[in-house]
Amino acid sequence: MLDKTKKDWWKSAVAYQIYPKSFQDTNGDGVGDLPGIIQRLDYLQELGIDVIWLSPVFASPQVDNGYDISDYRAIDPMFGTLEDMQTLIREGKKRGIGIMLDLVLNHSSDQHRWFLEAKKSKDNPYHDYYVWRDGVPGKFPNDMKSVFGGPAWDWVPEVGQYYFHQFAPQQPDLNWENPALRRELYDMILWWMEQGVEGFRLDVIDQIAKEPDNFITNNGPRLHEFLRELSRETFQKGCLITVGEAWGADTERAKLYSAPDGSELSMVFQFEQMMLDQKGEKWDPIPLPFVKMKQSFAKWQTALHSCGWNSLFLNNHDLPRIVSRWGDPGKYRVQSAKLLGTMLHGMQGTPYIYQGEELGMTNIQLPIEEYRDVEILNMYRERLKKGYAPEDIMKSIYARGRDNARTPMQWDSGKNAGFSEETPWLPVNPNYEEINAEKALADSDSVFHYYQKLIALRKEYPVFVHGDFTLLEEEHPKLFVYRRSWQGKEALVVCNFSEEETEFTLPEGWQGAQTLLDNYPQQEAEQPMRPWEAKILYQEK
Ligand code: GLC
Ligand code: CA
Repeated sequence: MLDKTKKDWWKSAVAYQIYPKSFQDTNGDGVGDLPGIIQRLDYLQELGIDVIWLSPVFASPQVDNGYDISDYRAIDPMFGTLEDMQTLIREGKKRGIGIMLDLVLNHSSDQHRWFLEAKKSKDNPYHDYYVWRDGVPGKFPNDMKSVFGGPAWDWVPEVGQYYFHQFAPQQPDLNWENPALRRELYDMILWWMEQGVEGFRLDVIDQIAKEPDNFITNNGPRLHEFLRELSRETFQKGCLITVGEAWGADTERAKLYSAPDGSELSMVFQFEQMMLDQKGEKWDPIPLPFVKMKQSFAKWQTALHSCGWNSLFLNNHDLPRIVSRWGDPGKYRVQSAKLLGTMLHGMQGTPYIYQGEELGMTNIQLPIEEYRDVEILNMYRERLKKGYAPEDIMKSIYARGRDNARTPMQWDSGKNAGFSEETPWLPVNPNYEEINAEKALADSDSVFHYYQKLIALRKEYPVFVHGDFTLLEEEHPKLFVYRRSWQGKEALVVCNFSEEETEFTLPEGWQGAQTLLDNYPQQEAEQPMRPWEAKILYQEK
């Protein structure tokens, strides 16, 4: 178990993201819940993770699956009770697993008490907790658009004003310019820290310092000022892991966010690599520009080394499944899932595994009526209106829709994949008889057991925590090769992103190195890399 009283413990940690609606249902309503997570803690302990990032379980009308919070201090009854949360925290700690809560501080639900008050009158003390502009109905303050489609403004006749929302109309933006609002948020965070949580993920944190009059949504001028205050008033009073979601981060900004003095956060999720295989909008995928992808990872690895910290991830609840995206979901599903894990876990940073990634779960294809995601449904309507052919829209959804990652966890080959006794809120992927946890646990060669080894790497070999990063074979169109070094210890990660055998010559000085990990049975050195083969070599000098 990691010693979590040690500053920077999270540098050796591996996190696991749970999307609670889809993890484990225990009361037969087809929706996952906190008792379900408690039931599965032993599974997670066996995998070896140190902390769970739990997507929101707070009271919410669920317009955006809990990312629209109506009470930050209450658990939504659909997920359980505050007592269940306390049990989860306690039972997790026993197993060396901490809980990171998902803080949605950029906006609340329109059903939050603050917003219900705010829209009563301009003099209401909560009015200024949100972002308002005077206007006349039908004439928006400006033409800013919401991320989920449509204008970013909605009219409230009672006050004769528009309010600003970067996401759905039911997710009004909070006004961080207001010190009283900020204080309420800090007190809420301190209260959760008292409950024993070990960290937080901060939803769209780069959007809090918005200036709609200047068309600024992310990276606003006061962003880092707000973050430093937030951190000083809350996180720095504990020994926490904190990660901010920052779509707009470049390496310079990431250094501020993750400065080693802890003045802001532990790290951020940046999305540069995740935006390479699209043309403009995410709904228009293109083949992965492989060499650019390698260069991008290398850039982040190098830029943040010893002056910041990277998060490492390939999946989350907003992204399609990585095996279906960059790997081979067919013949080489198992090898490519292991390869993608190897590529990522060999790097410097804190890895995040998204539920089911450790099984090599894949994307799903449903008829449009069966999708639930507000973003998918809005995009479908908008593109239809613009004249897109329905089959083309469906192709975009199959490739990039968020519900790909949100289908229920596949536990076994029984009814509803062992997720629920009753019909799940979103269909189970029909491949659950082939891909499920029970099968993976029984197979020593499974993706699960390989991930166990990847997770253990950071604990056993400090070079994976501290080592610097050098990209080799930079222009190679199929091989991703890099070296990590630290105090005479060296690791060499070699991944063949291809279903063809690929020649690979060991760099000088690597003959006779030990093989730490290989997703194929070991063979003589200097043999070509097999289809989707990945391996890690190790030596001490
Ligand atoms: C983040 C979340 C996403 C949510 C959005 C609005 O991007 O990850 O799921 O829809 O913020 O809260
Ligand atoms: Ca349930």
